Amino acid sequence: MYFLCAQIVVSLTLLSGRVCLAQDTSSNVASALGFFPASQRFYSSGFVSPTPPTIQSEFRANYMQHKFDANISDHIVSGFIYVSPSQKKVRADGAGDGFLEASIFDFANTTANGTLVANSIVSFASGVTTPTCSSFFVAPFVEVFPDDFLAQSNAVFAGIQLDELYGEVSAWTFSQGSSLQVTFFLDSNDTFVRYDFAASDSLRTFATTRFFNIIPGPVNGTVFETSCT
Ligand SMILES: *[C@@H]1O[C@H](CO)[C@@H](O)[C@H](O)[C@H]1NC(C)=O
Ligand SMILES: *[C@@H]1O[C@H](CO)[C@@H](O)[C@H](O)[C@H]1NC(C)=O
Ligand SMILES: *[C@@H]1O[C@H](CO)[C@@H](O)[C@H](O)[C@H]1NC(C)=O
Ligand SMILES: *[C@@H]1O[C@H](CO)[C@@H](O)[C@H](O)[C@H]1NC(C)=O
Ligand SMILES: *[C@@H]1O[C@H](CO)[C@@H](O)[C@H](O)[C@H]1NC(C)=O
Repeated sequence: MYFLCAQIVVSLTLLSGRVCLAQDTSSNVASALGFFPASQRFYSSGFVSPTPPTIQSEFRANYMQHKFDANISDHIVSGFIYVSPSQKKVRADGAGDGFLEASIFDFANTTANGTLVANSIVSFASGVTTPTCSSFFVAPFVEVFPDDFLAQSNAVFAGIQLDELYGEVSAWTFSQGSSLQVTFFLDSNDTFVRYDFAASDSLRTFATTRFFNIIPGPVNGTVFETSCT
């Protein structure tokens, strides 16, 4: 339909060029069609620095993550994740080489300085006969954030990029603290589909996480119930 419109522009330039041009640059129309508008494309005459969109921050989805740092060459995990800002909880069920686990983060339970978050993990390691319960405070690899998180973080538009899984995604990047750089990737409907973070401290951690089979909306609180605390 985008191309059809372009053809109409060519043939009806004198009569209705403005109408069609308006359609081409309207982010609503372009989004509804699954395209990024010219106003978001680098080197387009229609480019306008976009304002950070709101995103659906409560959802459940399949995910896959690759994380590495100076001491871990590979930590690759995939599974299912529940993200609930309203309950301040995240549960990531994951399977990796030699382990199977359900990891629950409680963002209402932090260390006094707020930097570390309660994390309880029920895991089966080296066999699936006996689960192990571990609970501690960690620097979380996920976050709970409100719908207007990108605006709150002064996220900077970093262009439309090609993602191997989703095709074109918009990139929004911001820093947290002194060494953490975070980038959110949204599809053309502003669905949050991927995030990367890089911590340029001595451990040099990088992680890329992709979501798919995304189900937006409230998460049933029973998924966070656990005997492991
Ligand atoms: C965006 O939503 C429209 C309408 O529901 C849909 O046709 C399109 O495929 C969606 N685009 C993406 C990238 O999911
Ligand atoms: C916050 O507190 C925890 C434990 O109380 C400590 O391990 C951590 O280093 C502290 N972080 C900062 C930035 O003060
Ligand atoms: C807070 O988290 C710690 C560490 O996981 C845990 O030991 C403690 O029971 C939790 N407290 C509450 C009230 O959930
Ligand atoms: C990396 O692992 C080595 C060996 O276990 C340890 O001595 C070092 O402190 C670790 N580096 C960091 C930044 O944690
Ligand atoms: C939440 O999950 C529980 C257990 O599966 C179920 O009994 C309950 O109906 C669910 N609540 C809602 C609102 O879907």
